[in-house]
Order: sequence, then C-alpha cells, then structure tokens
Amino acid sequence: MLLKDKVIIVTGASSGIGAAAALKFAEQGAKLVLGARRRDALEAVAGQVTRSNAAAVAVPGDVKDAGYAEELVEVAEERFGGLDGAFNNAGKLGSGAMVEATGPEEWAEVIATNLTSGYHAARAQIPALRARGGGSLVFTGSFIGHTATLPGMGAYAASKAGLVGLMQAIA
Ligand SMILES: NC(=O)c1ccc[n+]([C@@H]2O[C@H](COP(=O)([O-])OP(=O)(O)OC[C@H]3O[C@@H](n4cnc5c(N)ncnc54)[C@H](OP(=O)(O)O)[C@@H]3O)[C@@H](O)[C@H]2O)c1
Repeated sequence: MLLKDKVIIVTGASSGIGAAAALKFAEQGAKLVLGARRRDALEAVAGQVTRSNAAAVAVPGDVKDAGYAEELVEVAEERFGGLDGAFNNAGKLGSGAMVEATGPEEWAEVIATNLTSGYHAARAQIPALRARGGGSLVFTGSFIGHTATLPGMGAYAASKAGLVGLMQAIA
C-alpha cells in the first residue's frame, strides 16, 4: 500500500496508460480523481476501481480548458480533503502529417492537448500540493521529441519536448 490514502489526479484515465495507472494506484491504496473526455469509458474505469474497494471519482472534461484543471483540483479537495499528486497523462498523436502539411489548427490542437494542458494542470495543482506540504507531479512524455523522433510527428515531438522543459522548470 505505497500510496495509502494519497489523493491523486490521473488524466487520460479513460483508456491506455492512464486507465492502467489508475488501477495500479488504486491497488496501492490511492484515492483517485479521474479525468478524460469520454464519460462512459471514464466511468467504467472509476467503476472498476470502486469495485476493488478503492475510491475514485470520474470528472469528464477537456484538458485544453484551464477551468477543467481547476475543477479536478477542487474535486480532490472537496471529496478527499486535499491533493498529494497528479499524473498529467492525457495526450494525442495528431494526424501523422509531415510538418509542411500540418495546418495551424492541427498544430495548435496537439500543442494545447499535450503541452499547454501541462501548464494549466501544474498551475492549478502546485498551490494544492504546497498546501498539503508536498507531493508529486508526473507528466507523460515520450521518446519522441526527447531522444528520437519519427516522420509526421512535428507537433507531437515539439509538445513532448516542451513538457520536459516545463517539468524541469517546475522542479
Ligand atoms: N502508447 C505509447 O506507445 C506512448 C508512448 C509514449 C507516450 N505516450 C503518451 O502516453 C499518454 C497516454 O497515451 P496512451 O498510449 O495511453 O493512449 P490512449 O489510450 O489514446 O490515451 C489517451 C488518453 O488521453 C485522453 N485525452 C486525449 N485528449 C484529451 C483531451 N483533450 N482532454 C482530456 N483527455 C484527453 C483520452 O481520453 P478521451 O478520449 O476520453 O478524452 C485517453 O484517456 C499520452 O500522453 C501519449 O502521448 C504513449
């Protein structure tokens, strides 16, 4: 029970890495605030957690919205009494178009989803962690934009490289 009674936000919790992390964190005793856009999928993961006798609340929303980052922290504080950590994991790949074929709208969407969301999250979460006396912030990066890249990943690589810089600045 490494995370017993730790209150943790997990975004991108409706599938993949976020859903798997949520189940692992619950197994270790954490109380979870789960975020993603797809309500049904998110509630299914929250249901799996609660059936295992751990606590989870599903809060559907879009990580591109600053207000959603604040809402997740408010729910952690109101439902579970504070915030000990966040796994800011929601992300998207983009279309796979080469940079010269990537329009400004797709660029902005990928940067907003993968990078600006991290800023919104940290801005809302850091005061709550400080109020608790400390905590952990984790962001899902990638080898893409860090140690290597692949064709058609310009916006994705830039967003994930940006997350490394953001995390270093926060640390
Ligand atoms: N799979 C890999 O090989 C790999 C490698 C390196 C890094 N990553 C990173 O790992 C993270 C999780 O990816 P995954 O592989 O687990 O894929 P996934 O199953 O597609 O998970 C992505 C998650 O992000 C959520 N999401 C996407 N856009 C969102 C938005 N605007 N607002 C709120 N939630 C949003 C999705 O939920 P909704 O659709 O319900 O909103 C989903 O829960 C991403 O940051 C990805 O870049 C993955």
